[in-house]
Amino acid sequence: MIEYFKLNVMRMKLNKWLLLSLLFFNALPIFAQLDIIPLPRQVKETKSSFVINKTTPIYYEKGLKKQAELLSAALSPATGFDFTISELKNPVQKGIVLRLDKTFAANKEGYRLSVNNERIAINGGSPAGVFYGIQTVLQMLPTGIYDKQRQKGVSWSVKGVDIEDAPLYPWRGMMLDVARYFFSKEYVLRFIDMMAMYKLNVLHLHLVDDSGWRLEIKKYPKLTSIGAWSGIGAERHGGYYTQDDIKEMVAYATARNVDIIPEIELPAHTLSAIAAYPYLSCTGEQQIVQTQHSISGELYCAGQESTFDFLADVFAETFALFPSKYVHIGGDEARYDRWKACPHCQKRKKDLNLTTEKDLRNYFTHRVQKMVGKYGKTIVGWDEMIEEGLKDKVVGMIWHDQKKTLQAVQDGHYAVMALTANSYLDVAESNIEGEIKAATWLPPISLEKAYQLNPMLNNLDEKYRPQILGAQGALWSDQFIHGTILQELPQLNENRSEKYFDYLTFPRMASLAEVCWTPVNKQNFKNFEQRLSTHYSRYDHAGYGYRVPLPQLTGNEKVADGFILKVQSPVDGAQIRYSTDGTRPNVYSPVYTGPVKVNNLSDFYAITVVNRNQYSLPLFFPENYDKFKSYGKLVTEWKPQTIKSDYSILEINAGGKVNGNGNYQLSFWQVNGTSGLNIQSIEVFKNGKKIGEDVHQGLAAESPKDNIYKFNISDYETGAVYLIKAKVSGGDTRGAAFLKKD
Ligand code: ACM
Ligand code: ZN
Repeated sequence: MIEYFKLNVMRMKLNKWLLLSLLFFNALPIFAQLDIIPLPRQVKETKSSFVINKTTPIYYEKGLKKQAELLSAALSPATGFDFTISELKNPVQKGIVLRLDKTFAANKEGYRLSVNNERIAINGGSPAGVFYGIQTVLQMLPTGIYDKQRQKGVSWSVKGVDIEDAPLYPWRGMMLDVARYFFSKEYVLRFIDMMAMYKLNVLHLHLVDDSGWRLEIKKYPKLTSIGAWSGIGAERHGGYYTQDDIKEMVAYATARNVDIIPEIELPAHTLSAIAAYPYLSCTGEQQIVQTQHSISGELYCAGQESTFDFLADVFAETFALFPSKYVHIGGDEARYDRWKACPHCQKRKKDLNLTTEKDLRNYFTHRVQKMVGKYGKTIVGWDEMIEEGLKDKVVGMIWHDQKKTLQAVQDGHYAVMALTANSYLDVAESNIEGEIKAATWLPPISLEKAYQLNPMLNNLDEKYRPQILGAQGALWSDQFIHGTILQELPQLNENRSEKYFDYLTFPRMASLAEVCWTPVNKQNFKNFEQRLSTHYSRYDHAGYGYRVPLPQLTGNEKVADGFILKVQSPVDGAQIRYSTDGTRPNVYSPVYTGPVKVNNLSDFYAITVVNRNQYSLPLFFPENYDKFKSYGKLVTEWKPQTIKSDYSILEINAGGKVNGNGNYQLSFWQVNGTSGLNIQSIEVFKNGKKIGEDVHQGLAAESPKDNIYKFNISDYETGAVYLIKAKVSGGDTRGAAFLKKD
């Protein structure tokens, strides 16, 4: 008895951390983990909590009525409560209290959130800050709060906290390519909600491209009667936003602190406008809007005044609709062949003593900046625009290489990172077989890769840092252009639709949001992934599509006769189902309940199953191809199940691997099996058009023979789809093909 007592006293003295952690673990079952994304700057949890019920009042300080109404509209459907909203007279009211806090002088998007037993108090540096405080509260409520249907039997409890929060960068954006694929107005409004949930505040609408002009301009009706449509008859596709649609979108976005920046692309990517008004081009020839993706060589003529008159008119109508202080003018991927051959453009060059076509481009950009400057607007453009010699101080959207930022800021420009390596969300997350067929000219961008973005250039001099405004994700749609047939994606149970874009957006947009908002020293991918695990349920309730993440491998122990594997679900509440015979599991495969032993790692496959219609691609252990390293990058694998005994086509997606002009070698190698792979020929296609072939008999077997095929790429284009069709036959053969550029 005495011994026992002594032990207890000793324990109490041990240290207060033990005690604290005991308290913490005791608290766990009562309060769910805070899983706020983006992670706030400072969070102090307290022991209190606030339960929202049908009598909870909402008070707002003058100027915040709109925010109070948005809060009520966000809470009502799922709770079923009718909230009373009234202006705050007495600052110590109980309930939900929205106020402005003047102490956020510099960072007006900041807010303080204090939750205790009596009130949820949101104090914002501005109405935007209050809106963000509301988003944080929504993320602290049970996930059903995002549902449009009433949720029964839920306690709408918010954990006690004191949060101080403000964004790291002022520009936290997404680009939606509504030009290549016309997104309905409803989708755009919903997309604004998706952004607002994560405190993103810039929506860059890519309204103009070769394959579509999407903005009604009253003075130029053919822009939308001709330029907004492609194809004929039943295959006619497209659409545009009326000026009333735009007003509705802008009002909706403004209420949610989202600035819509219109992009009026120039001088390239303008075939849709030229098809409508051929005089805008150098040649004046009639053009038609293409039905498949390509980048047109037609440009607006830089020599004729009519181009600038047209643009001045277009900007006048555009600025009457979009209050943003920015206008995006594109500026990317112009090839200057037309300008070189145009007498008007050449005369302009000569008259102005310009040396190169890039000088002419700077002249063009400068005239546009002067034009839009009258409206108090600043131009934003892709990084080509700021490459050299542009005198105006503009915003460069850096997509090629973050290193371009240094020159840009030294030249006095501002910069926003929209890097192909991290932020092109039209690129698939993986190259696992069955992955969505998206933009293939870049390597996959995993959730973690998206999280690795740091908008700030390493070692950038302190004085330039304020010129880095933030980052932006790009959701291009050239691979989804109307009429394009994509491979089926069984998870979504539809061939091609706007849901594809949800799949590409979520969860990676959450990564983007966190790296734009949360202080760098608080960013941690593992912790982010944990917080994300309840967000999938939020997406489900809100009706947003998403890519179900693969199971996470948490243990891989080598034992005498095999391996013991442990996995966990990255999605709160989801199951893992698995197989141990080397085949892909499905939603009826065994449920994972604990460590699994396999003889060979390649026998194990596991998927995350949210429900019968939503499940992930498999986690599995790919073959080790190290010994083939000198033959380049893996482009495809084959198995006995995928090869026929008669010659048939093996399609090889060379996207991201064909990455420039040059001589390429495609080689086929057997890994195991009793027979080999016979190869008769390979054919190379760019955007569906044959551009090369190598016809000779080859064999990939234990002793390979003539198994290397050659082709040349001479007109490489970013964004083009490169496909190789190999004519092959075989039996019991398993192997892989690799592609190398000389
Ligand atoms: C771009 O991807 N052409 C900006
Ligand atoms: Zn010209």
